[in-house]
Amino acid sequence: METRLVRDFVKTCTDGWLQGWHERNGGNLSYRMKDAEVEEVREYLNEDAEWKDVGTEVPGLANEYFMVTGSGKYMRNVQLDFEDSVAIIRLNEDGTRYKIVYGLINGGRPTSELPSHLMNLEVLKHRDPEMRIVYHAHPANTIALTFVLPLDDAVFTREIWEMATECPVVFPQGIGVVPWMVPGGKEIGIKTSEIMKTRNVAIWAHHGMFVCGHDFDETFGLMHTVEKSAEILVKVMSMSDRKLNTITPQDFRDLQKPFNITLDETALYEKKSNKIGER
Ligand code: 13P
Ligand code: ZN
Repeated sequence: METRLVRDFVKTCTDGWLQGWHERNGGNLSYRMKDAEVEEVREYLNEDAEWKDVGTEVPGLANEYFMVTGSGKYMRNVQLDFEDSVAIIRLNEDGTRYKIVYGLINGGRPTSELPSHLMNLEVLKHRDPEMRIVYHAHPANTIALTFVLPLDDAVFTREIWEMATECPVVFPQGIGVVPWMVPGGKEIGIKTSEIMKTRNVAIWAHHGMFVCGHDFDETFGLMHTVEKSAEILVKVMSMSDRKLNTITPQDFRDLQKPFNITLDETALYEKKSNKIGER
């Protein structure tokens, strides 16, 4: 299957692997397909496949098609064996069941995080119908910060924003944090999709990150931007628990007009000290 979508999907998996975000089978990727993209590959689709439970309900996505990575599949192998690693699934008329119409040729099922992916994609479709991609990875610096920063949306947003001026421009809505939860089910999907109602980044404590976007470059770029800032913060914290200089709340507000953004004001609190992570 040589389509533009397949090329972009594969590139994202490979790029994430090369960043070191996908040890073993870590991470997963999903894409809500456009009608024209489904028609482009129609000849490859097996509509006779059996229906299986999604594990949650996503009525807003009824009858739609999705390209998703398989559970237990390695992101590094997507470029080498696409048909073994990736599936196209179709949802039924009430969004509770799916069938594998393409891929996973050696057996298996879509990612165990399918409930989170689909619940996020449902919320995103409502928010902006062109937001079609959800990407989950295990980037080390972001995960490391969940052990030392309070698991608070405003604190995470502020500390990551301060590490790079481009951050508030790239994700002005800030970051949502999900406390440690059992992955792979509906409950964590509910928490994550609550965040995706207004934000493009959700951090799962001691696990990884979910991001969304309109296209693969933007989605990958968002993960990359957050993780780069997290890396700078880890470096700063390895030198000191305090900052001598930083970007101030007023500096952030000054970015709004020239960059035509509206920042999450809850992250622009006045700090009581220069100790990292303290409100
Ligand atoms: P899957 O192999 O089922 O996609 O799981 C990987 C993962 O990162 C779980 O959170
Ligand atoms: Zn994971």
